[in-house]
Amino acid sequence: MQDTLIDQASVQAGWSEKLDQLIAQYKSLPGALLPLLHAIQDELSYIPESAYPKIAQALSLSVAEVHGVVSFYHHFKTHKPGRHVLQICRAESCQAMGSEGLEAHAKQCLSIDYHETSLDQAVTLEPVYCLGNCALSPAVMMDEEIFGRVSKADLEALIHDAKKTEAQA
Ligand code: FES
Repeated sequence: MQDTLIDQASVQAGWSEKLDQLIAQYKSLPGALLPLLHAIQDELSYIPESAYPKIAQALSLSVAEVHGVVSFYHHFKTHKPGRHVLQICRAESCQAMGSEGLEAHAKQCLSIDYHETSLDQAVTLEPVYCLGNCALSPAVMMDEEIFGRVSKADLEALIHDAKKTEAQA
């Protein structure tokens, strides 16, 4: 937990200038808030709450309005994700093929719930609704790679490999 706080603080300390650049780039666009939020998340992989006041001021919105939009869209993250993101498909085909058991197993292996990150910052767990891989249900996605017909043992191996990777500098 402490590592997370230190990490987030250092990211935020270094990126204030970049936030100003992004705001300047997007603020005159019609409906600027969503593209600006996407650009911030593309830059940082999440949207720090400390950015809300600056965004609100630039777009003549309240901080509550910015917060409302960020929290409405599940796509937007308010905390730095782990080094890897594991998404488990919860849509119909995968549910019919046992994805509920997979998600319970993932939560147990990582000791976290959905939208959380393992203590070692290795894996963030997210639900997803169809990966377009229904013929090979149940499906999961680790970072950008989709896996089909995933067993509990396969899932454990994916998590194990993800945890072995070094923290990025
Ligand atoms: S329902 Fe899971 S990949 Fe389509």
